[in-house]
Amino acid sequence: MSERTADGDTGETLLSIQNLVAGYGLGNVLRDIDLEINRGEVVSLVGRNGAGKTTTIESVLGNVPEVSGEISYKGTDVTSLTNDETISQGIAYVPEERRVFPGLTVRENLEVAQVGGDDANTRDIDEVIDMFDNLQKNEHSLGSEMSGGEQQMLSIARALISGADLLMLDEPTEGLAPFIVRAVEDTIKRLNDEGITVLLVEQNVQVALEVADTHYVINQGEIVYEGTSDELNENQEVMDQYLGVTS
Ligand SMILES: Nc1ncnc2c1ncn2[C@@H]1O[C@H](COP(=O)(O)OP(=O)(O)O)[C@@H](O)[C@H]1O
Ligand SMILES: [Mg+2]
Repeated sequence: MSERTADGDTGETLLSIQNLVAGYGLGNVLRDIDLEINRGEVVSLVGRNGAGKTTTIESVLGNVPEVSGEISYKGTDVTSLTNDETISQGIAYVPEERRVFPGLTVRENLEVAQVGGDDANTRDIDEVIDMFDNLQKNEHSLGSEMSGGEQQMLSIARALISGADLLMLDEPTEGLAPFIVRAVEDTIKRLNDEGITVLLVEQNVQVALEVADTHYVINQGEIVYEGTSDELNENQEVMDQYLGVTS
């Protein structure tokens, strides 16, 4: 394994998206997306509502009907794999809608996620619960008793049961109160410290800047900017034009 740099990036390409063009049969939604994530990084894909963020993730997962270009994960071409086949390569996904079973406890929600998984390739439930302070305290609480923030943590925990190396999160802080947003940010950073590579999809650029090292700005299905947190933070034009942030 290559040496880690200060931000955890190892220089090994984990996910590579090249010339991705994708759509739902009514013209292209994504026009020419190039995006690369190295093992150990947190990368954000940030842009306004309707820019094509979810479609990008869903294309990686094999859920978009019309896809061309090349998507590879750990060097394997996953462009034409189905959703299940892609997930089994070691990608975890937390969609925008949090899917927690309200009538099951925290532990039971995780047990359900483990069923059907490849045994050799799953994390232990205790290991996953230990990654989240608030799940440890509430492992016998019902899903329905959990706050929005706790449900988000549980959704992330469920996704990680699969043993994945790459975690893709679609707007994990949407609709959460500011102090819970902080908690979700801290969780993502901690998971990254534990070796999980993250693709964070966000409309909220402040969250992206707080958590990610590298940012791809997407607008109308195209990557219009790529840069580090410092570079993006200082680029008032990009912030203003594509992210609706005016200082
Ligand atoms: N299932 C779908 N069928 C048809 N069009 C879709 C579908 N999902 C998204 N779109 C369209 O694709 C574009 C990008 O949407 P999306 O990827 O959801 O953007 P974002 O996640 O950045 O808000 C939008 O114009 C949206 O209307
Ligand atoms: Mg979306």
